[in-house]
Order: sequence, then C-alpha cells, then structure tokens
Amino acid sequence: MKERLFSGIQPTGNLHLGNYLGAVKNWIALQDDYDAFFCVVDLHAITLPQDPEQLRSKIVELTRVYLASGIDPVKSTIFVQSDVSGHAELAWLLNTIARMGDMEKMTQFKDKSTKEGSERSSVGLFDYPVLMAADILLYDSEIVPVGDDQRQHIELTRTLARRFNERFEETFVVPKGDIREEGMRIMGLDDPTKKMSKSASSEYNYIALSDAPDVIRKKIMKAVTDSEPTITYSDDRAAVKNLLTIYSLLSEKSITEIVSLYEGKGFGDFKKDLAEVVVDFILPLQERMNALTDADVELILTQGAQKAEMISSKKIRAVKNVMGLGVTK
Ligand code: TYM
Repeated sequence: MKERLFSGIQPTGNLHLGNYLGAVKNWIALQDDYDAFFCVVDLHAITLPQDPEQLRSKIVELTRVYLASGIDPVKSTIFVQSDVSGHAELAWLLNTIARMGDMEKMTQFKDKSTKEGSERSSVGLFDYPVLMAADILLYDSEIVPVGDDQRQHIELTRTLARRFNERFEETFVVPKGDIREEGMRIMGLDDPTKKMSKSASSEYNYIALSDAPDVIRKKIMKAVTDSEPTITYSDDRAAVKNLLTIYSLLSEKSITEIVSLYEGKGFGDFKKDLAEVVVDFILPLQERMNALTDADVELILTQGAQKAEMISSKKIRAVKNVMGLGVTK
C-alpha cells in the first residue's frame, strides 16, 4: 500500500509562479509514489470575504490548473474541501484540543489580520490552521508537500495529532511536511524581501498563471535587480537569486549552467531570455487549461469528492468513537 499524501491551495486571488514552483510542481513528481489527495480548499478561502460568484469560478479555474499542470485524476484524488463534510466536522473536534496558546503563535494570522486589525478579523481566520490540520489528519496523510510559509501550520498539525493520540488513543498519523529547498520561497519580483503573493497590492509582485505573454515580458523586464552588473548567484543578492531560481526550475537547467551562459552579458539579455522561459511554460499550460470543459472538471470533482467522502467518513466515525461522542457507530 502506498503512503498517503495531502495538499491543497486556496481558490483565491491570482495563482502565481510561487504556488506552482513551491507546491504543484512537486505534487506532479510525487503522485506516482503516493496515494495523493489534492484539495481545492474553499473553506479556507472564506476566512476572508469572498464574492460567491467569483469564488465558484475560482474553484473551477484552480481545478483546471491542477489538471493542466499534470495532476492525473486516475492516479490522484482531486476534490473540493466543502464537498466533503468531514473537514469542517473534524476542525470542530480539533478545536477542543487546540489551545489558545498554540493559536496565538501563528504568524500568518498576525500577517493577514494586520490589514483589518485583529478585532475585525473573522474567528475563521484565527482558526484557519486547525481546519488545515483537519484536512491533513482526516486522511491519515503521511506527507504534506507545501512551500516554506506553511511550515508552522504543519508543526501545529503534528502537535494536535500527538496531543489527541495521548489524550484518547492512537488515532491519527503524525504527518511530515515536505518542503523543498528549491522553490519553497519564491520572492516578489518588485520586492525580493517579501514572498510572491496572491494578495500583493502591486501586480508587478507576481507572474500569474493566467498572465498573457506580453504582460509576463513586461513584468520580468521591470523586476528589480541590484546595482551589480553581473549575473551571479548569492544569498546577498536576493533579487538575482530569485530570478535565477525561477529560470532554473522552469528550464530544468542548473543554476551553474545558467550563470555561465550569461557570463559577460547584462540583465537585458538575461531578462529577455527569462521572459521567454516563463512564456514557454505558461502558454502551453493555458492552452491545456482552455481545452478542459466545465463538464470534465465537474465529473473529476464529483468522483474525487465521492472517494474522499468514503475515506473521511470512516475516520470521523473513529474519532467520535474514541472521544465518546454520539450513539450511532
Ligand atoms: P496557499 O493557497 O496560500 O498556497 C498554496 C501553496 O503555494 C505555496 N506558496 C509558495 N511557495 C513558494 N513561494 C511562494 N511565494 C509561495 N506562495 C505560496 C504555499 O506554501 C502552499 O503550499 N493553508 C494553505 C492551503 C491548505 C493546505 C491544507 C495545504 C489548506 N489545507 C492542507 C496543505 C495541506 C494555503 O493557504 O496555501
């Protein structure tokens, strides 16, 4: 039996190269070796206000990205979180295990609540990491491939699993994060000190997977670099390091190979080529996305939800049982 893998993305904002390189690209490589579950986490999306019509179309669009990127619905289970009731249910049960002290440490809540202030933030936003723990634990997942920004949430998941197992009986698998050194933290093109983000205020922060070729070229040409004229890879040159990382991950050329390719050349040449590398990746992806019909997507999500429901409902029953809840078994 293959080990289980679980991961997900929120259907909000503009899916970008950071999401692809930090998460989806690794998923494709892992799906042969694991029993993989890839979720569209719409219940996480509503922790910030969403327009209902837009949310639904983002769910379909994200599923198209999963499929067009190479997630194979025959090998892997693709589904929408809210189609499977166990996620919200287990989140409630785990809420009684999570402590305020655990939650108050979560840096993403602090970051995301600064805009509105924590007073005006929803309780759901505060509770978001517990729902993520529920997603993972519901399927006895062994590994969770994510980008670096999810590290703390995975740690919380492990804490909750261990605490539950100790308080009741051995019920949950304690999962491991799979955070790859390369690609785990793709930075903003306009500011290499901040990660590339769906909710960035400037569109020059990210390359969206839906960007047109000319937009991509413009964004890459405008990407910040530094005052040194040469192209070298070093931690002290965050902007250049980030561009080289993107180049390398999308072209499958090593960093050393790319650096030697641009010896004696300037950023003009480098950026022009990088833009073409990105376009050559994104254009075919968009074509594959457009070739999928709504009916294809719906069928895959329905079948995925049925499979996820079958596995998760058993787990919910087991969890309720050890907690002494309910009377039907
Ligand atoms: P989300 O939707 O913010 O991001 C999806 C995935 O993309 C990664 N990522 C990045 N990787 C590299 N560089 C970046 N600039 C970058 N920005 C985002 C994220 O690390 C993530 O892997 N809480 C999760 C979704 C979630 C989940 C789960 C993940 C809900 N339940 C269960 C795994 C397992 C989130 O908000 O990801």
